[in-house]
Amino acid sequence: MNNPFSIASKRILITGASSGIGRSMAIACSKMGAEVYFTGRNAAALTQTLEMMNGEGHKMLVSDITSLQDVEKLVSELPILDGIVSNAGINRRMITQYIKEMDMDMILNTNLKAPIMLAKALLKAKKINFGASIVFVSSIAAFHSSIGDGVYSASKGGLSSFSKVLALELASKKIRVNTIQPGMVHTGLTEVGPLSDEDYKKDEQRYPLGRYGNPEEIAYSAIYLLSDASVWITGTDLVIDGGISLI
Ligand SMILES: NC(=O)c1ccc[n+]([C@@H]2O[C@H](COP(=O)([O-])OP(=O)(O)OC[C@H]3O[C@@H](n4cnc5c(N)ncnc54)[C@H](OP(=O)(O)O)[C@@H]3O)[C@@H](O)[C@H]2O)c1
Repeated sequence: MNNPFSIASKRILITGASSGIGRSMAIACSKMGAEVYFTGRNAAALTQTLEMMNGEGHKMLVSDITSLQDVEKLVSELPILDGIVSNAGINRRMITQYIKEMDMDMILNTNLKAPIMLAKALLKAKKINFGASIVFVSSIAAFHSSIGDGVYSASKGGLSSFSKVLALELASKKIRVNTIQPGMVHTGLTEVGPLSDEDYKKDEQRYPLGRYGNPEEIAYSAIYLLSDASVWITGTDLVIDGGISLI
């Protein structure tokens, strides 16, 4: 039976798969029959991801995406890919007057420079198949403001802008480029920073659908963008946020 939503046998790279959204994506893609190449810096946590995956042929690759040497090595170890989910990212909340240059460099390097340099390296090495799909994990923070998120928002806004240019550049090869923009999702990322559990609970109640997201709910959207069901979608931002950006 022809199933346009299938990603079976597609070769997919997922960065930042040692926890949270990336781990859920690796697990969900493996359950859908894809061959998954997944990265992070923490080898023990990547091994745990592998243990939760289905099927054979997956490969974990320990790699710091902010290191050009690591990225070069990573790209050399990859096959030609049908899908890429550039998901690794970090956040440190701080209001503007307390921004430290070191934190700013770390956030911009990880969330913006690294995904761009990885895309460049994959393209130069001809590791992206004709008709492939690239998904950048951005955030509603790109266009939806919250106090203390200035640098993070700038990194994700930059990523969304970059993805649209890349979509234009790669359209002739039928390679599609889109972003996913999640609202708050329960992961380690939401556990760091100055907000208390009570602050988070109060914030969660503001969501029109009544709660924050779960990582697998973001993974399912990535699978849609990786599949041929979205073959005419490129240069777009897919908001997945329980309706919070409506208010
Ligand atoms: N959770 C949310 O509410 C939310 C909302 C909107 C968007 N997002 C975005 O979703 C993505 C995933 O976040 P998450 O919530 O799943 O956070 P998470 O659980 O902290 O996962 C982040 C992942 O990124 C990897 N990573 C970070 N820096 C890296 C580096 N220098 N090199 C390689 N890997 C690196 C981490 O792996 P290692 O530590 O092993 O290196 C980890 O696997 C991020 O881009 C984030 O901005 C999250």
